[in-house]
Amino acid sequence: MKCRKCGGSAALELRRHNAAFCSPHFIEFFRKQVAEAIHKHRMFTPDEPILVAVSGGKDSLGLWDVLIEEGYRTAGLYLDLGIFDYSQESKAKCEAFAAARGQKLCIERVAGAVGAPIPEVQRVTRRPTCSACGLSKRYLLNRAALEHGYAVVATGHNLDDEAATLFNSVLHWQTEALPRQSPALPSTHPKLARRVKPLYRLSELETAAYAFLRRIDYIVEECPFAKGATSLAHKEVLNRLEEVSPGAKHNFLFGFLDICAFCKLADQVKRRTRPSSAAPGMVE
Ligand code: AMP
Ligand code: FES
Ligand code: ZN
Repeated sequence: MKCRKCGGSAALELRRHNAAFCSPHFIEFFRKQVAEAIHKHRMFTPDEPILVAVSGGKDSLGLWDVLIEEGYRTAGLYLDLGIFDYSQESKAKCEAFAAARGQKLCIERVAGAVGAPIPEVQRVTRRPTCSACGLSKRYLLNRAALEHGYAVVATGHNLDDEAATLFNSVLHWQTEALPRQSPALPSTHPKLARRVKPLYRLSELETAAYAFLRRIDYIVEECPFAKGATSLAHKEVLNRLEEVSPGAKHNFLFGFLDICAFCKLADQVKRRTRPSSAAPGMVE
C-alpha cells in the first residue's frame, strides 16, 4: 500500500476515502479535516479563545493537540465526575498533557456543584447514570465557559459519536432531537456558550490513529458505566455496516447534515414569505 500523497509506504488505509497515507501525510490529512470543519461551520476565528472540554480520552486530547499545533488560543476544562479510579486516571492524563505543552487546564469537581459524585447522584436520584452525568456535563461545561470568559466550548465528539446519536434519534423517531444535532450549536441565549465539534468529520479509528502517531498518552478504558450502554450497541451496528459498505457511516451522517442545511434554508424562506397570520387549524 502506498501513500496517496508521496508514494512512500503507507501506515494507514482509509477505505471510505479510498486512500492510504504515510504517518506525516495522515497527520496532515487529519488536521485538514479539522480545519475544514472549523471553516465550513464558522466554529471560531483564529484569535478567539477556545475552551476545550477534555475527558482524558483520545478524541478530546487529540483535538486539543490539533488546536494547539494550529496556533489557536486554548485552555482545557476537565470535569471530575468522581467515578472511582476512572476519574483519577483520566484527570492525571489531562494534567500531564497540559503540563507537557504549557497549557492552562481548569478542573471542576462535579461533586462540588451537584452535591455528590456521579455514582452517588445516580443512587439518590435513580436516574440512569449516563443521563445524570450527561446533564451535569452540559451544564457545568457551559457554566465554566461563562465564568472563565469563553464564548465557545469545543468537544471531541467524532463521526462515530455523531452517527450513533443520529441513529438513536431516528430509531426512536425523536424528531425534536434532530435540529439540535449539529457540528456547531449557536448561542441562543446570552448565558449559553456556543458548542462546536471540530472532529465530526473524523472516525474513531482515525482519532485513535492520530493520538497514537502523535504519541498522546490517553486513557484507553471506557467509563465503567458505559458497559452495555445502547450507544455502544448502535456504534457496533454502524461499524458492521461500515465493514460491508465503506463510507456508510459517513453517508448516513453527512446526508442528514446536508438535508438539514437545505431544510434550514427552506424554513427561512417559508417564514419570510408566509402571510403573517395563518388560518386557524391550517395544516402546514
Ligand atoms: P462522551 O460524552 O464521554 O462521549 O464525551 C464526548 C466529549 O465530551 C469528549 O470528547 C469531551 O470533549 C467531552 N467530555 C466528556 N467527559 C468529559 C469530562 N469529564 N470533562 C470534560 N469534558 C468531557
Ligand atoms: Fe458519564 Fe460514564 S462518563 S456515566
Ligand atoms: Zn506520504
